[in-house]
Amino acid sequence: MSRISYVNGNYCEHKDSFVHIEDRGYQFADGVYEVFGIINKKIVDYDGHINRLFRSLKEVQMKSPINKSSYYFHIKRLIKINRIDDGLIYLQITRGVAERDFKFPKNTRPSLVMIAKGISLESYEYTFKRGINVKTVKDLRWKRVDIKTINLLAPVLAKQEATDHHCQEAWLIDEDSFVTEGSSSTAWILKKNILYTTPLSNSILNGITRQSLIKGLKKNKLRLIEKKFNINDIKDADEAFITSATQYVMPVVRVDNFKIGNGKVGKHANIFSKAYMEAIKLS
Ligand code: PDD
Repeated sequence: MSRISYVNGNYCEHKDSFVHIEDRGYQFADGVYEVFGIINKKIVDYDGHINRLFRSLKEVQMKSPINKSSYYFHIKRLIKINRIDDGLIYLQITRGVAERDFKFPKNTRPSLVMIAKGISLESYEYTFKRGINVKTVKDLRWKRVDIKTINLLAPVLAKQEATDHHCQEAWLIDEDSFVTEGSSSTAWILKKNILYTTPLSNSILNGITRQSLIKGLKKNKLRLIEKKFNINDIKDADEAFITSATQYVMPVVRVDNFKIGNGKVGKHANIFSKAYMEAIKLS
């Protein structure tokens, strides 16, 4: 069976799914996106992701090309026709196709695409057992990364630098030497049984996985402090993690040249992963 994607109201063969060369996403990165995790054919935390999508649209003054309930319908349909059990949906909206001009085009319909991808839970579990390595990289992003825009060149370069150093994620370091977040994930460290993550601001994305993990921590009476941390805090950490819609809760065992704890996945990895999985809503 062939892979099917969604392009502006049509279900197309993935290999024949195109937008025009003057799409403003292509020329200006003028668009927003969301990534939804799929577990057992169900969407993880749909409401959180769709509400963040509508917030992103509002912040960049774009209108949704379809109404809120239609997103759910199309995502569920893509899961079904692509026979996805576990994986993700990538959804992108740009300001549409118009002759290249920086200011907003008039009467242009936004472009909407959705791509489904199957990823086995076994591959996630394999990585979870080993943990990942992180490289710290300067945070070169713009000042509104709370909006989930497709303007991702700085994270692309950061992730490549991490990859070149045999690391799976980059942690971005701000001008005051604090970690903001990962190039495509939220960053966490654990010290003396207290979990730390950067407080919300325009300098990080309000992760939906972050929100659900926090909910799960509260329910299980696990301690969390939303406070910035730097490389010295990382060196002292007992455990570390990233979270995202594609990695869920993923342990970190090394940052730059420093082992976290004894360099192996610690005992809180399973505790936090379980707390997260119990807190999510599947629909
Ligand atoms: N990225 N911070 C950044 C910069 C991100 O790009 C992401 C997610 C997160 C975590 O957000 P959430 O828990 O809602 O997925 C934090 C997605 C997965 C991506 O770009 O592929």
